[in-house]
Amino acid sequence: MKPIEIAKGIYDVGVNDWNIDDFHGYSTPLGTSYNAFLILDEKVTLVDTVKKEFADQLIANIAQIVDPRTIDYVISNHTEMDHSGSLTRVMHRIGEDKPVYCSRMGAKNLALHFAPKLNYQPVKDGQELSLGHRTLSFLETRMVHWPDSMFTYLKEDKILFSSDGFGQHYAGFEKFDDVVGHTIMPHAKKYFANILLLYGPLILKLIEKVVQMGLEIKMICPDHGVIWRTAPEKIIDAYVGWSKQTPKRKAVLVYDTMWHSTERMAESIAAGLSAEGIQVRPMYLRKWHRSDIMTEVLDAKAVVVGSPTLNNGLFPTVSDFLTYMKGLKPVGKIGAAFGSYGWSGEAAKLITQELEAMKFDIIEPVRQQYVPSDAALEESFAFGQAIGRNINAQVPA
Ligand code: FEO
Repeated sequence: MKPIEIAKGIYDVGVNDWNIDDFHGYSTPLGTSYNAFLILDEKVTLVDTVKKEFADQLIANIAQIVDPRTIDYVISNHTEMDHSGSLTRVMHRIGEDKPVYCSRMGAKNLALHFAPKLNYQPVKDGQELSLGHRTLSFLETRMVHWPDSMFTYLKEDKILFSSDGFGQHYAGFEKFDDVVGHTIMPHAKKYFANILLLYGPLILKLIEKVVQMGLEIKMICPDHGVIWRTAPEKIIDAYVGWSKQTPKRKAVLVYDTMWHSTERMAESIAAGLSAEGIQVRPMYLRKWHRSDIMTEVLDAKAVVVGSPTLNNGLFPTVSDFLTYMKGLKPVGKIGAAFGSYGWSGEAAKLITQELEAMKFDIIEPVRQQYVPSDAALEESFAFGQAIGRNINAQVPA
């Protein structure tokens, strides 16, 4: 398939990874894409490369437009190997002496990933590079989401090459937001919740800086998924809201169970939350992937976590989820724990400690021994109601 010309003289030469279903712990049922862009000008320029396994496909895509040896400049916006894994092989084909423009941290980190050393040309924030008729401007975006990350802005065409920013794990021949339609937004939200959530304050500062610079953006080209060309401000506004973690009257109720007792508690607690008008769905950890649960956590006010006690500890799937959520640093949440137990019953206390460590506002846990009676389930229902009233008191309708 011939690469798509996304604007005059600018081609998407990236690849689709149809079969990937786990991206370092993030479920990707629709696969993903590694986007790379070729700009034809006096200086032919390649923006980003792809994952190592797709090097030949990238080179073949480029070769449909130009002889790869005619590429003059390569831009590396980000060191992570889904975008740089093929760099050494691609440079071997293009010419190892050709400059690779990257941030200062990019030059350092690329050298720590790949040997032999390439002709890295570190650029500063705001530095420009003339391609002849067009100009690239580099925007450092340190820790959004690696120390080396940067955006590249094509001034004359008003195109922002945004690396991981505004990406979605989505493989498809449809390369534009208006072609895919509104169904792309949940993928963008999941991407934010699982990759960028902990950098929300930095993202807000970055967007403020872009606004102050008066940067006009006609098109945003991320390195994953579709290109935003119809209304780039829509995804920028969504990023502002997600970065602020503005909550809804919503709870995430996540649990695992051994003999259905914690499950019965979960369903009663969810019913109690719902009775208070809270949006909630019990999410069983052997049905729901941790990354889908995190997407729900993004705009929830409360996270309610249940585990049976297993060998004086937490059920392993619950530990897994708590570790994952802790790393993503959600803020401003109410936290509550529950669980059934046989004799020692440490799980609810251990969950509470983890939620406290995440600086959640804690509601005291409920525990039930062995199989919950009808009266015990009423207690769980009332626990759900109490959490629901707490949410309603803090979140405007
Ligand atoms: Fe898509 Fe941070 O790599």
